[in-house]
Amino acid sequence: MEGLPQGKALDMMESAPMEEFSSKILGTNHYEDSAGSDVIVITAGLARKPGMSRDDLLFKNAEIVGGIIGACAKDSPQAVIVMVTNPLDVMTWLAWKRSGFPAERVIGMAGELDSARYAYFIAEKLGCKPSDVKAMVLGGHGDQMVPVPQLTKVKGKPITKCLDTATIEAIHQRTRDGGAEIVQLLKTGSAYYAPSSSVVKMVRAILQDTGEVILSCVYLKGQYGLSDIYCGVPVKLGRSGVKQIVEIPITEAQAQALHVSAADVRLNFEKLKL
Ligand code: LAC
Repeated sequence: MEGLPQGKALDMMESAPMEEFSSKILGTNHYEDSAGSDVIVITAGLARKPGMSRDDLLFKNAEIVGGIIGACAKDSPQAVIVMVTNPLDVMTWLAWKRSGFPAERVIGMAGELDSARYAYFIAEKLGCKPSDVKAMVLGGHGDQMVPVPQLTKVKGKPITKCLDTATIEAIHQRTRDGGAEIVQLLKTGSAYYAPSSSVVKMVRAILQDTGEVILSCVYLKGQYGLSDIYCGVPVKLGRSGVKQIVEIPITEAQAQALHVSAADVRLNFEKLKL
């Protein structure tokens, strides 16, 4: 929509004297203006309406993402792509296929958001500082995501030692439904602030080449017993995208749940019949 990106950009630029930045924000309707980008964050697509699952967006958003990825990749052949559009794992996989980029440079944002929600719900329950909770959620960004409570810690102490099983299970369900809960409240549109914070965290690690371990949706080649699939796991991020996939010890039941989640992603990807 002509004027919308320009208006947003101008509004943001007008915050510069107060926020004390001097970088330039350009709003545009042309992909050429993004040529030579280091990082491309793609959020384009329809958002869920109340009652819709992330998978309900599959075909519509595949059309939208499929249509833009070629242009982005051609103009910025060295970029790292960070996908945000839902259904996240399938769209990240699609972006990899369509971009022709090495898989290390096509990454999806989800695990960090899901674990932030998990951490927040725990902090709310325990009455502690949200930043004192380090949470871990693996798997696809969908109803089958896999929270890992024994590796989710409050000041180093596993939550399995702070909360009872029923409370932890209720928090797991709320985490899986985290996106839907926001959609239900907003009625139009979906979550915005926490997803943005997650993207910023990833982009910062990439641009500053920190190697920070961030839960991300990446292409697996045998890790966690999964191959040729995009799925959420801990990853060291840096200038080249994925520096290293980190394999953490999980229980047999969690490994099985991870495979169920990955199978769901594969099923949806195959529906696209690429
Ligand atoms: C959510 C969207 C970003 O979980 O998938 O809110």
